[in-house]
Amino acid sequence: MSVYPIAVNRLRIVDILGVIRESPSVKTFVFHDRLCGRAVPGQFVMVWIPGVDEVPMSLSGIGSDGVCSICVGLVGEATDAIHKLREGDCFGVRGPFGKGFSVGRTRKVLVVGGGTGLAPLAVLTDKLVEANADVTMLFGAKTRGELLFYDRISKVPSKDVKVIAATEDGSYGFDGVVTEVAEEMLERSRFDMVYSCGPEQMMYKLFLLAEKYQVPIEFSLERLMRCAIGLCGSCVIGKYRVCKDGPVFSGEQLSEVKAEFGRVRRDFDGSKIDV
Ligand SMILES: Cc1cc2nc3c(=O)[nH]c(=O)nc-3n(C[C@H](O)[C@H](O)[C@H](O)COP(=O)(O)OP(=O)(O)OC[C@H]3O[C@@H](n4cnc5c(N)ncnc54)[C@H](O)[C@@H]3O)c2cc1C
Ligand code: FES
Repeated sequence: MSVYPIAVNRLRIVDILGVIRESPSVKTFVFHDRLCGRAVPGQFVMVWIPGVDEVPMSLSGIGSDGVCSICVGLVGEATDAIHKLREGDCFGVRGPFGKGFSVGRTRKVLVVGGGTGLAPLAVLTDKLVEANADVTMLFGAKTRGELLFYDRISKVPSKDVKVIAATEDGSYGFDGVVTEVAEEMLERSRFDMVYSCGPEQMMYKLFLLAEKYQVPIEFSLERLMRCAIGLCGSCVIGKYRVCKDGPVFSGEQLSEVKAEFGRVRRDFDGSKIDV
């Protein structure tokens, strides 16, 4: 997006226009913000909950009219505070930040997601459909109730979106992990790009598969974030800062940070911990 960076980094207070329960532990929050409406899929905002924290969240909906959304999984203090908010309450946003997914020249693409990682991929899939790409989307979850956005994407009125679900408990679709389905697809067909967002161990397995089948990739990473503008270093991975150089990285970039990708990340005190 081509807006002046200072405007992007300025905190705006937005009203919550609606709250949607996606699963027992995930809720979508709809709000209006002109700058977020100009974001590309994969970009994120910093969400400020006064007196609690400010945390990064991908945009799960991007309307050109400024109606946007975030999809929040309940994991700790800040996400618990967001989950308690209702329609008419407000929170602060800065952003959108970072490099999103490129939609440009891709024709036949594989989109693989798990958990709340499916949030930015749902917006990406809408853009890919608009760009007439031939999309196969693989949804991974532990169980049927956690297959986020599956029902919505399954209903996309396009012959070009194939949707496949995998659940680890076998309650729906393929019985197993989504990377097993991805390997079958990559073995059978040639794809121009694999996009992914979700648990890092899942993306690391996909990264190795993409190397094996020589397919270009764009994967979105998560790290602890504070400033979101490349200053504080809390999101560092190898030579990159995830907030500024990512969160979406190419296969070449991930190869350069192989020592950390899928292995370690920084904790709140800067020490390295297992991903
Ligand atoms: C670019 C980006 C986009 C994201 N998009 C989404 C999204 O769309 N939906 C969503 O639910 N979550 C998303 N996250 C993760 C989200 O920011 C964290 O879950 C949240 O900050 C946790 O805050 P908390 O206070 O509730 O939990 P905490 O109590 O702070 O932490 C709970 C657990 O989550 C880990 N954690 C905390 N923050 C992060 C982080 N930034 N990255 C990885 N692990 C973390 C902690 O180490 C701890 O194990 C995104 C993260 C990034 C970096
Ligand atoms: S969050 Fe501060 S450098 Fe990335």
